[in-house]
Amino acid sequence: MKVLIIGSGGREHAIAWKVAQSPKVDKIYCAPGNAGISQYAECVNIGAMEFEKLAAFAKEKEIDLTVVGMDDPLVGGVVDIFESQGLKVFGPRKNAAILEGSKAFSKDLMKKYNIPTAAYENFTSPEEALAYLETAKMPIVLKADGLALGKGVLICNTLEEAKEGVKTLMLDKQFGSAGDEIVIEEFMVGREVSVLSFVDGNTIRIMTSSQDHKRAKDGDQGLNTGGMGTFSPSPFYTKQVDEFCRENIYQRTVDAMKAEGRPFKGIIFFGLMLTEEGPKVLEYNARFGDPETQVVLPRMKNDIVEVFEACVDGKLDQIQLEFDHNAAVCVVLASDGYPEHYEKGYPITGFENFENKSGYFVFHAGTKFDEAGRIVTNGGRVLGVTALGEDLKKARENAYNAVQWIHFENKYMRNDIGKAIDEA
Ligand code: AMP
Ligand code: GLY
Repeated sequence: MKVLIIGSGGREHAIAWKVAQSPKVDKIYCAPGNAGISQYAECVNIGAMEFEKLAAFAKEKEIDLTVVGMDDPLVGGVVDIFESQGLKVFGPRKNAAILEGSKAFSKDLMKKYNIPTAAYENFTSPEEALAYLETAKMPIVLKADGLALGKGVLICNTLEEAKEGVKTLMLDKQFGSAGDEIVIEEFMVGREVSVLSFVDGNTIRIMTSSQDHKRAKDGDQGLNTGGMGTFSPSPFYTKQVDEFCRENIYQRTVDAMKAEGRPFKGIIFFGLMLTEEGPKVLEYNARFGDPETQVVLPRMKNDIVEVFEACVDGKLDQIQLEFDHNAAVCVVLASDGYPEHYEKGYPITGFENFENKSGYFVFHAGTKFDEAGRIVTNGGRVLGVTALGEDLKKARENAYNAVQWIHFENKYMRNDIGKAIDEA
Protein backbone atom coordinates (compact mmCIF):
# COMPACT_ATOMS: atom_id res chain seq x y z
CA MET A 1 0.00 0.00 0.00
CA LYS A 2 0.95 3.61 -0.54
CA VAL A 3 -0.04 6.08 2.19
CA LEU A 4 -0.03 9.88 2.07
CA ILE A 5 0.01 11.85 5.34
CA ILE A 6 -1.00 15.53 5.36
CA GLY A 7 0.75 17.73 7.93
CA SER A 8 4.17 18.70 9.20
CA GLY A 9 4.33 18.52 13.02
CA GLY A 10 5.29 16.15 15.80
CA ARG A 11 1.85 14.55 15.55
CA GLU A 12 2.41 13.71 11.88
CA HIS A 13 5.90 12.37 12.69
CA ALA A 14 4.36 10.01 15.27
CA ILE A 15 1.66 8.97 12.77
CA ALA A 16 4.29 8.36 10.07
CA TRP A 17 6.37 6.27 12.48
CA LYS A 18 3.32 4.19 13.40
CA VAL A 19 2.18 3.77 9.78
CA ALA A 20 5.71 2.63 8.90
CA GLN A 21 5.31 -0.31 11.34
CA SER A 22 2.43 -1.69 9.28
CA PRO A 23 3.34 -4.72 7.17
CA LYS A 24 0.68 -3.56 4.69
CA VAL A 25 2.61 -0.41 3.79
CA ASP A 26 5.32 -0.21 1.11
CA LYS A 27 5.66 3.53 0.67
CA ILE A 28 4.76 6.65 2.66
CA TYR A 29 4.55 10.22 1.40
CA CYS A 30 4.06 13.27 3.59
CA ALA A 31 2.94 16.74 2.50
CA PRO A 32 4.70 18.92 3.44
CA GLY A 33 6.46 16.91 6.22
CA ASN A 34 9.65 17.89 8.05
CA ALA A 35 13.23 16.70 8.54
CA GLY A 36 12.29 13.92 10.98
CA ILE A 37 9.35 12.63 8.95
CA SER A 38 11.71 12.18 5.97
CA GLN A 39 13.16 9.16 7.82
CA TYR A 40 9.95 7.26 7.10
CA ALA A 41 8.33 9.16 4.27
CA GLU A 42 9.15 10.95 1.06
CA CYS A 43 8.27 14.57 1.83
CA VAL A 44 6.56 16.46 -0.96
CA ASN A 45 6.47 20.20 -1.16
CA ILE A 46 2.70 20.74 -1.27
CA GLY A 47 0.99 22.82 1.44
CA ALA A 48 -1.70 21.24 3.62
CA MET A 49 -4.27 23.76 2.29
CA GLU A 50 -3.55 23.10 -1.41
CA PHE A 51 -6.40 20.61 -1.74
CA GLU A 52 -6.50 20.28 -5.54
CA LYS A 53 -2.73 19.81 -5.74
CA LEU A 54 -2.85 17.20 -2.97
CA ALA A 55 -5.62 15.28 -4.72
CA ALA A 56 -3.79 15.45 -8.05
CA PHE A 57 -0.65 14.11 -6.34
CA ALA A 58 -2.62 11.27 -4.71
CA LYS A 59 -4.05 10.30 -8.11
CA GLU A 60 -0.72 10.50 -9.90
CA LYS A 61 1.05 8.33 -7.29
CA GLU A 62 -1.93 5.96 -6.94
CA ILE A 63 -2.12 6.51 -3.19
CA ASP A 64 -4.28 3.87 -1.47
CA LEU A 65 -5.00 5.86 1.70
CA THR A 66 -4.56 9.50 2.73
CA VAL A 67 -4.46 10.41 6.42
CA VAL A 68 -5.12 14.04 7.38
CA GLY A 69 -3.31 15.07 10.57
CA MET A 70 -4.15 18.75 10.85
CA ASP A 71 -7.33 20.63 11.73
CA ASP A 72 -7.28 23.43 9.11
CA PRO A 73 -7.50 21.20 6.02
CA LEU A 74 -10.22 19.08 7.67
CA VAL A 75 -12.32 22.10 8.59
CA GLY A 76 -11.65 23.48 5.09
CA GLY A 77 -13.05 20.35 3.42
CA VAL A 78 -10.02 18.43 2.12
CA VAL A 79 -11.80 15.13 2.74
CA ASP A 80 -14.75 16.17 0.54
CA ILE A 81 -12.36 17.05 -2.32
CA PHE A 82 -10.58 13.68 -2.05
CA GLU A 83 -13.83 11.71 -1.83
CA SER A 84 -15.34 13.54 -4.81
CA GLN A 85 -12.37 12.30 -6.86
CA GLY A 86 -12.77 8.72 -5.69
CA LEU A 87 -9.74 8.81 -3.37
CA LYS A 88 -9.73 6.93 -0.07
CA VAL A 89 -9.14 9.29 2.83
CA PHE A 90 -9.20 9.10 6.64
CA GLY A 91 -10.76 12.09 8.38
CA PRO A 92 -14.14 13.80 8.82
CA ARG A 93 -15.89 15.62 5.99
CA LYS A 94 -16.30 19.38 6.28
CA ASN A 95 -19.82 19.07 7.68
CA ALA A 96 -18.49 16.87 10.53
CA ALA A 97 -15.16 18.63 11.14
CA ILE A 98 -17.32 21.56 12.27
CA LEU A 99 -17.31 19.74 15.61
CA GLU A 100 -13.89 21.37 16.04
CA GLY A 101 -14.29 24.22 13.54
CA SER A 102 -17.13 25.94 15.40
CA LYS A 103 -17.25 26.08 19.18
CA ALA A 104 -20.78 27.55 18.99
CA PHE A 105 -21.87 24.50 16.95
CA SER A 106 -20.29 22.04 19.38
CA LYS A 107 -21.81 23.75 22.42
CA ASP A 108 -25.29 23.73 20.84
CA LEU A 109 -24.85 20.05 19.94
CA MET A 110 -23.92 19.17 23.52
CA LYS A 111 -26.88 21.11 24.89
CA LYS A 112 -29.33 19.53 22.44
CA TYR A 113 -28.15 15.97 23.14
CA ASN A 114 -27.59 16.37 26.85
CA ILE A 115 -23.81 15.85 26.78
CA PRO A 116 -22.23 17.29 29.97
CA THR A 117 -20.39 20.57 29.38
CA ALA A 118 -20.05 24.04 30.97
CA ALA A 119 -23.13 26.32 30.89
CA TYR A 120 -22.78 28.92 28.09
CA GLU A 121 -24.31 31.44 25.71
CA ASN A 122 -23.28 32.23 22.10
CA PHE A 123 -23.03 35.83 20.85
CA THR A 124 -22.68 37.43 17.43
CA SER A 125 -23.22 40.95 18.79
CA PRO A 126 -20.49 42.54 20.93
CA GLU A 127 -23.10 44.79 22.61
CA GLU A 128 -25.14 41.80 23.73
CA ALA A 129 -22.00 40.00 24.91
CA LEU A 130 -21.02 43.03 26.99
CA ALA A 131 -24.51 43.35 28.46
CA TYR A 132 -24.50 39.65 29.40
CA LEU A 133 -21.17 40.01 31.19
CA GLU A 134 -22.58 42.70 33.52
CA THR A 135 -24.62 40.09 35.39
CA ALA A 136 -22.32 37.07 34.93
CA LYS A 137 -20.26 35.37 37.63
CA MET A 138 -16.46 35.76 37.46
CA PRO A 139 -14.09 34.16 36.52
CA ILE A 140 -15.59 33.52 33.10
CA VAL A 141 -14.33 32.04 29.85
CA LEU A 142 -14.53 33.63 26.38
CA LYS A 143 -13.95 31.51 23.28
CA ALA A 144 -13.62 32.57 19.66
CA ASP A 145 -15.99 30.38 17.64
CA GLY A 146 -13.52 29.45 14.91
CA LEU A 147 -10.00 28.02 14.71
CA ALA A 148 -7.39 30.23 16.38
CA LEU A 149 -4.32 27.97 16.74
CA GLY A 150 -5.53 26.99 20.21
CA LYS A 151 -5.18 30.60 21.34
CA GLY A 152 -8.76 31.82 21.04
CA VAL A 153 -9.71 31.00 24.64
CA LEU A 154 -9.56 33.76 27.26
CA ILE A 155 -9.98 33.07 30.97
CA CYS A 156 -11.08 36.33 32.59
CA ASN A 157 -10.91 36.91 36.34
CA THR A 158 -12.67 40.26 36.45
CA LEU A 159 -15.47 42.05 34.60
CA GLU A 160 -12.89 44.51 33.20
CA GLU A 161 -10.78 41.70 31.76
CA ALA A 162 -13.85 40.06 30.27
CA LYS A 163 -14.97 43.31 28.60
CA GLU A 164 -11.46 43.77 27.24
CA GLY A 165 -11.64 40.18 25.95
CA VAL A 166 -14.85 40.83 24.01
CA LYS A 167 -13.11 43.82 22.43
CA THR A 168 -10.03 41.74 21.53
CA LEU A 169 -12.04 38.92 19.95
CA MET A 170 -15.04 40.68 18.39
CA LEU A 171 -13.97 44.26 17.67
CA ASP A 172 -10.16 44.19 17.23
CA LYS A 173 -10.55 40.76 15.57
CA GLN A 174 -7.28 39.43 16.93
CA PHE A 175 -8.15 36.03 15.44
CA GLY A 176 -9.90 37.42 12.35
CA SER A 177 -13.28 35.96 11.45
CA ALA A 178 -12.85 33.25 14.13
CA GLY A 179 -14.15 35.98 16.47
CA ASP A 180 -17.30 36.86 14.48
CA GLU A 181 -19.15 34.76 17.02
CA ILE A 182 -18.01 33.96 20.57
CA VAL A 183 -19.01 31.52 23.27
CA ILE A 184 -19.13 32.83 26.83
CA GLU A 185 -19.05 29.97 29.29
CA GLU A 186 -18.91 29.11 32.94
CA PHE A 187 -15.41 28.66 34.42
CA MET A 188 -14.85 25.07 35.53
CA VAL A 189 -12.36 23.75 38.05
CA GLY A 190 -10.78 20.31 37.81
CA ARG A 191 -8.14 18.15 36.20
CA GLU A 192 -7.97 17.98 32.43
CA VAL A 193 -7.74 14.73 30.50
CA SER A 194 -7.42 14.17 26.76
CA VAL A 195 -9.13 11.13 25.28
CA LEU A 196 -8.62 10.25 21.62
CA SER A 197 -10.92 7.91 19.75
CA PHE A 198 -11.41 6.31 16.34
CA VAL A 199 -14.88 6.69 14.83
CA ASP A 200 -16.44 5.15 11.69
CA GLY A 201 -19.71 7.07 11.64
CA ASN A 202 -21.47 4.64 14.00
CA THR A 203 -18.93 2.87 16.19
CA ILE A 204 -16.42 4.54 18.48
CA ARG A 205 -13.27 2.95 19.91
CA ILE A 206 -11.52 4.77 22.75
CA MET A 207 -7.73 5.02 22.94
CA THR A 208 -5.74 5.25 26.16
CA SER A 209 -5.95 8.56 28.07
CA SER A 210 -3.32 11.29 28.23
CA GLN A 211 -2.74 14.77 29.63
CA ASP A 212 -1.26 17.85 27.99
CA HIS A 213 0.54 20.84 29.58
CA LYS A 214 -0.64 23.89 27.66
CA ARG A 215 1.15 26.73 29.45
CA ALA A 216 4.66 27.78 28.45
CA LYS A 217 6.24 27.80 31.91
CA ASP A 218 6.68 25.54 34.93
CA GLY A 219 3.83 25.50 37.41
CA ASP A 220 1.32 26.15 34.58
CA GLN A 221 2.45 29.77 34.34
CA GLY A 222 2.98 31.84 31.21
CA LEU A 223 1.09 31.93 27.94
CA ASN A 224 -0.95 29.17 26.34
CA THR A 225 0.99 27.17 23.75
CA GLY A 226 0.24 24.31 21.38
CA GLY A 227 1.33 21.96 24.22
CA MET A 228 4.67 21.66 26.06
CA GLY A 229 4.50 17.98 27.01
CA THR A 230 2.22 15.05 27.74
CA PHE A 231 1.93 11.85 29.68
CA SER A 232 -0.13 8.71 29.15
CA PRO A 233 -2.12 7.19 30.72
CA SER A 234 -3.68 9.77 33.06
CA PRO A 235 -3.87 8.30 36.58
CA PHE A 236 -6.94 10.50 37.13
CA TYR A 237 -8.85 8.78 34.34
CA THR A 238 -10.23 6.07 36.58
CA LYS A 239 -12.53 3.20 35.71
CA GLN A 240 -15.40 5.19 37.17
CA VAL A 241 -14.62 8.21 34.98
CA ASP A 242 -14.31 5.94 31.95
CA GLU A 243 -17.69 4.34 32.63
CA PHE A 244 -19.36 7.74 33.06
CA CYS A 245 -17.89 9.01 29.78
CA ARG A 246 -18.86 5.88 27.87
CA GLU A 247 -22.42 6.27 29.11
CA ASN A 248 -22.85 10.02 28.76
CA ILE A 249 -20.29 11.44 26.32
CA TYR A 250 -18.57 9.23 23.72
CA GLN A 251 -21.27 7.26 21.94
CA ARG A 252 -23.76 10.06 22.53
CA THR A 253 -21.53 12.44 20.56
CA VAL A 254 -21.21 10.02 17.64
CA ASP A 255 -24.99 9.40 17.63
CA ALA A 256 -25.68 13.14 17.83
CA MET A 257 -23.53 13.85 14.79
CA LYS A 258 -25.28 11.08 12.87
CA ALA A 259 -28.70 12.37 13.88
CA GLU A 260 -27.73 15.83 12.63
CA GLY A 261 -26.89 14.39 9.20
CA ARG A 262 -23.17 14.89 9.83
CA PRO A 263 -21.80 11.37 10.33
CA PHE A 264 -18.31 11.60 11.79
CA LYS A 265 -15.50 9.39 10.48
CA GLY A 266 -12.01 9.94 11.79
CA ILE A 267 -10.56 10.92 15.13
CA ILE A 268 -12.62 12.60 17.84
CA PHE A 269 -10.44 14.13 20.55
CA PHE A 270 -12.41 14.71 23.76
CA GLY A 271 -10.92 17.46 25.92
CA LEU A 272 -12.42 16.62 29.32
CA MET A 273 -12.48 18.41 32.67
CA LEU A 274 -12.99 16.19 35.70
CA THR A 275 -15.15 18.49 37.85
CA GLU A 276 -16.75 17.88 41.22
CA GLU A 277 -20.03 17.33 39.38
CA GLY A 278 -18.43 14.71 37.13
CA PRO A 279 -16.59 14.75 33.80
CA LYS A 280 -17.56 17.52 31.36
CA VAL A 281 -16.48 18.25 27.79
CA LEU A 282 -14.17 21.28 27.48
CA GLU A 283 -13.80 20.96 23.74
CA TYR A 284 -13.83 18.59 20.82
CA ASN A 285 -11.11 18.31 18.21
CA ALA A 286 -11.57 16.49 14.93
CA ARG A 287 -8.03 15.08 14.74
CA PHE A 288 -5.22 13.57 16.79
CA GLY A 289 -3.85 15.82 19.56
CA ASP A 290 -0.38 17.29 19.43
CA PRO A 291 1.60 16.29 21.56
CA GLU A 292 -0.91 13.66 22.87
CA THR A 293 -0.28 11.48 19.80
CA GLN A 294 3.41 11.30 20.70
CA VAL A 295 2.57 9.43 23.94
CA VAL A 296 -0.51 7.49 22.79
CA LEU A 297 0.70 5.87 19.55
CA PRO A 298 3.95 4.44 20.99
CA ARG A 299 1.72 2.50 23.44
CA MET A 300 -0.71 1.22 20.81
CA LYS A 301 -0.38 -2.42 19.76
CA ASN A 302 -2.70 -2.47 16.73
CA ASP A 303 -1.67 -2.02 13.13
CA ILE A 304 -2.88 1.58 12.75
CA VAL A 305 -3.45 1.21 9.01
CA GLU A 306 -5.98 -1.56 9.66
CA VAL A 307 -7.79 0.74 12.10
CA PHE A 308 -7.77 3.65 9.63
CA GLU A 309 -9.20 1.40 6.92
CA ALA A 310 -11.87 0.01 9.24
CA CYS A 311 -13.01 3.58 10.00
CA VAL A 312 -13.19 4.54 6.33
CA ASP A 313 -15.04 1.31 5.45
CA GLY A 314 -17.49 1.53 8.38
CA LYS A 315 -16.15 -1.69 9.95
CA LEU A 316 -14.70 -0.43 13.20
CA ASP A 317 -17.02 -2.78 15.11
CA GLN A 318 -14.68 -5.57 13.98
CA ILE A 319 -11.64 -3.98 15.67
CA GLN A 320 -10.61 -4.04 19.33
CA LEU A 321 -7.90 -1.56 20.29
CA GLU A 322 -5.03 -2.75 22.44
CA PHE A 323 -2.50 -0.73 24.40
CA ASP A 324 0.60 -1.80 26.31
CA HIS A 325 0.38 -1.80 30.10
CA ASN A 326 3.18 0.75 30.33
CA ALA A 327 3.42 4.53 30.31
CA ALA A 328 4.90 7.29 28.16
CA VAL A 329 6.06 10.87 28.76
CA CYS A 330 6.80 13.45 26.05
CA VAL A 331 8.79 16.60 26.81
CA VAL A 332 8.69 19.27 24.12
CA LEU A 333 11.97 21.00 23.31
CA ALA A 334 11.05 24.49 22.17
CA SER A 335 12.85 27.62 21.00
CA ASP A 336 13.31 29.99 23.94
CA GLY A 337 10.72 32.76 23.68
CA TYR A 338 7.96 30.52 22.23
CA PRO A 339 5.00 31.19 21.87
CA GLU A 340 5.94 34.83 21.25
CA HIS A 341 9.28 35.81 19.70
CA TYR A 342 12.05 33.32 19.05
CA GLU A 343 14.99 32.72 16.74
CA LYS A 344 15.24 29.72 14.44
CA GLY A 345 17.76 28.14 12.08
CA TYR A 346 20.06 26.71 14.79
CA PRO A 347 21.73 23.35 14.06
CA ILE A 348 20.50 20.46 16.25
CA THR A 349 22.87 17.72 17.38
CA GLY A 350 22.52 14.46 19.30
CA PHE A 351 19.98 12.53 17.21
CA GLU A 352 22.40 9.57 17.02
CA ASN A 353 21.81 8.98 20.74
CA PHE A 354 18.29 7.76 19.91
CA GLU A 355 19.37 5.25 17.27
CA ASN A 356 18.66 1.62 18.15
CA LYS A 357 17.42 2.56 21.62
CA SER A 358 14.07 0.95 22.13
CA GLY A 359 11.55 2.94 24.12
CA TYR A 360 12.98 6.35 23.17
CA PHE A 361 11.69 8.56 20.38
CA VAL A 362 12.53 12.01 19.10
CA PHE A 363 9.56 13.32 17.11
CA HIS A 364 10.25 16.41 15.01
CA ALA A 365 7.81 19.32 15.21
CA GLY A 366 9.64 22.32 13.74
CA THR A 367 12.80 21.22 11.95
CA LYS A 368 14.18 21.35 8.42
CA PHE A 369 17.36 20.60 6.48
CA ASP A 370 19.45 23.69 5.78
CA GLU A 371 21.47 24.18 2.59
CA ALA A 372 24.41 22.33 4.10
CA GLY A 373 22.16 19.32 4.82
CA ARG A 374 22.16 19.87 8.60
CA ILE A 375 18.95 19.56 10.63
CA VAL A 376 18.11 23.00 12.04
CA THR A 377 15.37 24.45 14.24
CA ASN A 378 12.42 25.75 12.23
CA GLY A 379 9.64 26.64 14.67
CA GLY A 380 8.55 27.35 18.21
CA ARG A 381 8.06 23.74 19.14
CA VAL A 382 11.13 21.97 17.74
CA LEU A 383 11.14 18.36 18.99
CA GLY A 384 9.08 16.07 21.20
CA VAL A 385 11.27 13.68 23.17
CA THR A 386 9.18 10.67 24.22
CA ALA A 387 10.23 7.83 26.48
CA LEU A 388 8.38 4.71 27.59
CA GLY A 389 8.65 3.20 31.05
CA GLU A 390 7.01 0.47 33.07
CA ASP A 391 5.07 3.17 34.92
CA LEU A 392 4.63 6.94 34.71
CA LYS A 393 7.47 7.78 37.09
CA LYS A 394 9.93 5.62 35.19
CA ALA A 395 8.77 7.05 31.86
CA ARG A 396 9.23 10.58 33.19
CA GLU A 397 12.72 9.77 34.46
CA ASN A 398 13.62 8.28 31.07
CA ALA A 399 12.22 11.26 29.15
CA TYR A 400 14.13 13.79 31.27
CA ASN A 401 17.32 11.78 30.73
CA ALA A 402 16.79 11.71 26.99
CA VAL A 403 16.22 15.47 26.63
CA GLN A 404 19.85 15.90 27.64
CA TRP A 405 21.01 13.98 24.57
CA ILE A 406 19.83 16.78 22.26
CA HIS A 407 21.55 20.14 21.86
CA PHE A 408 20.69 23.38 20.08
CA GLU A 409 21.34 27.03 20.77
CA ASN A 410 18.14 28.32 22.38
CA LYS A 411 16.72 25.04 23.67
CA TYR A 412 13.87 25.56 26.17
CA MET A 413 11.66 23.07 27.96
CA ARG A 414 9.40 22.77 30.96
CA ASN A 415 10.98 20.87 33.85
CA ASP A 416 7.72 19.73 35.44
CA ILE A 417 6.01 17.65 32.75
CA GLY A 418 4.17 14.88 34.59
CA LYS A 419 4.52 16.49 38.01
CA ALA A 420 0.81 15.75 38.56
CA ILE A 421 1.71 12.06 38.64
CA ASP A 422 3.06 12.60 42.18
CA GLU A 423 -0.38 13.78 43.34
CA ALA A 424 -2.19 10.72 42.02
P1 AMP B 1 -10.03 24.75 24.69
O1 AMP B 1 -9.32 25.21 23.44
O2 AMP B 1 -11.50 24.93 24.65
O3 AMP B 1 -9.58 23.38 25.15
O4 AMP B 1 -9.48 25.69 25.85
C1 AMP B 1 -8.10 25.81 26.09
C2 AMP B 1 -7.86 25.67 27.57
O5 AMP B 1 -8.58 26.67 28.30
C3 AMP B 1 -8.35 24.36 28.14
O6 AMP B 1 -7.42 23.33 27.98
C4 AMP B 1 -8.57 24.73 29.60
O7 AMP B 1 -7.34 24.72 30.30
C5 AMP B 1 -9.05 26.15 29.51
N1 AMP B 1 -10.52 26.20 29.52
C6 AMP B 1 -11.34 26.14 28.46
N2 AMP B 1 -12.63 26.22 28.83
C7 AMP B 1 -12.64 26.31 30.18
C8 AMP B 1 -13.66 26.40 31.17
N3 AMP B 1 -14.96 26.45 30.84
N4 AMP B 1 -13.29 26.47 32.46
C9 AMP B 1 -11.99 26.45 32.80
N5 AMP B 1 -10.97 26.37 31.92
C10 AMP B 1 -11.28 26.30 30.63
N1 GLY C 1 -2.73 19.26 22.59
C1 GLY C 1 -3.96 19.88 22.31
C2 GLY C 1 -4.36 19.85 20.91
O1 GLY C 1 -3.83 19.11 20.10
O2 GLY C 1 -5.26 20.60 20.57
